[in-house]
Amino acid sequence: MKFSIGRIGEARILPVLKDTVPQGMEELFAYLKERELFSGAKGEIFFDLGLHGSNTLLVGLGEADKLDAQAYRQSFYKAGTEAAKARLTQVTVDLPKFPQICYRTAVKAAAEGLYHSAYRFDKYLSQEKKKPVLEEVAFQIVAGTEDKVTSALAEISNILDGIDLTRSLVNEPAEAIYPETLAKAAQEALTPLGVEVEVKGLEEIKALGMTAFLAVARGSAREPKLIIMRYRGASEDQETIGLVGKGLTYDSGGYALKPAASMAAMHTDMGGAGAVIGAMSAIAASKLNRNVTAVVAACENMISGEAYKNGDIIRSMSGKSIEIGNTDAEGRVTLADAIYYTATKENVSSIIDVATLTGAVIVALGSHYTGAVTNDQAMMDEFKLASDLGGEKVWQLPADDDYRDMVKGKRADLLNSVKGGAGSITAGLFLENFTEGKKWIHLDIAGTSAYDAPHGYRPAGATGIPVQSLYYFCKGDNDQTRCC
Ligand code: BES
Ligand code: MN
Ligand code: ZN
Repeated sequence: MKFSIGRIGEARILPVLKDTVPQGMEELFAYLKERELFSGAKGEIFFDLGLHGSNTLLVGLGEADKLDAQAYRQSFYKAGTEAAKARLTQVTVDLPKFPQICYRTAVKAAAEGLYHSAYRFDKYLSQEKKKPVLEEVAFQIVAGTEDKVTSALAEISNILDGIDLTRSLVNEPAEAIYPETLAKAAQEALTPLGVEVEVKGLEEIKALGMTAFLAVARGSAREPKLIIMRYRGASEDQETIGLVGKGLTYDSGGYALKPAASMAAMHTDMGGAGAVIGAMSAIAASKLNRNVTAVVAACENMISGEAYKNGDIIRSMSGKSIEIGNTDAEGRVTLADAIYYTATKENVSSIIDVATLTGAVIVALGSHYTGAVTNDQAMMDEFKLASDLGGEKVWQLPADDDYRDMVKGKRADLLNSVKGGAGSITAGLFLENFTEGKKWIHLDIAGTSAYDAPHGYRPAGATGIPVQSLYYFCKGDNDQTRCC
């Protein structure tokens, strides 16, 4: 979606606060009120485009004292959906300035809602079935805000491009995105933005001693790839943030085979990898003055005569041994090596891992919140500011020694699948064993990375969560009380 400042198309979208009347529209609003057609309630729409209709799409922003970025995202998602129903491909947004919210924030959130309304993964549909979508949006803005709006639109465009990249990778079936093509996609998207992308194949992964990663990968006919993406926006003496994404391009469960119904969506089990690649795109395109290194250990979890087995005891790159109670708890096994590699070989000062790790996080939080586990509260607090700014909800799970004890093994140092409940916490704390004491946050996006059905202002399929949180975290300085 293209954003600009000015006017475009035959219709405009006008956001309206509840029970208020935009200047010059007194007559229309008296009529709308009398007929109870429009009050400005959040997400409410009034639009009569046509031969003699008005060319203004009214959208309610809800109550003035509850006005926030989420209200803009939700309302503009609705407005974009209605505009597309009217077969508009270009539209002007007439954006008033309300004192309750920073104008930059409002512009970005409106753009985001419109973008989500137009997202389709329809490349495999025959031409006749495709419906027109909004392609170009121009913002008619308050005088004197050109500079602010220009930079806000540039930033949100870079973020939305990152989200779009994540989505296009996550929505692809496993026949299209497997380790080699995932690595290629990362190279193609990130190299032009100045990110160094290094891809290691089987022999190099063996040479690194990533035996846990290789145990999972070994049942598949597809070669595993270790994808390392380095962005240097600051000098080498500045610290580097490490991002690690779970990169299971398919998770059949292995010998702990999943039933068909839950296996069918497992092409999305590289949602963490997709998110860190998308975040790197947003970070590099915006030229953030930070150093960030992202790592993905990409493979498939399959069945074959070579595959690892339930009951196996394997070694990891760190030297710690792992008892495989369940081959379907494979994500943490690959991440053990990916995190250890990042902590010891990439000179990072902190690590965020992002993973579609457990069904248990869906039991706990559904599709609305990402679950988080951390060993550093200050880092977590910073991350929460970033996720708030991006409208990507995160819930921190408790993590203490009672849970830490649960992942300790008897036959091996660690257990990959633990009885006794709290599956998302124990999965996270399993990973903690490979962080080498670095500041660390684990994000379980099993419920938030891809939706079965639309929720709020996001359509079904890959969501792009948590690209915005990662972007704003890396950018830093997210205290909204200092907003314009
Ligand atoms: N990839 C799955 C988790 C998942 C479930 C992601 C649903 C998205 C939607 C993961 O590898 C897995 O299978 N986890 C097991 C762990 C268990 C065997 C300890 C699970 O959650 O059932
Ligand atoms: Mn699994
Ligand atoms: Zn998995």
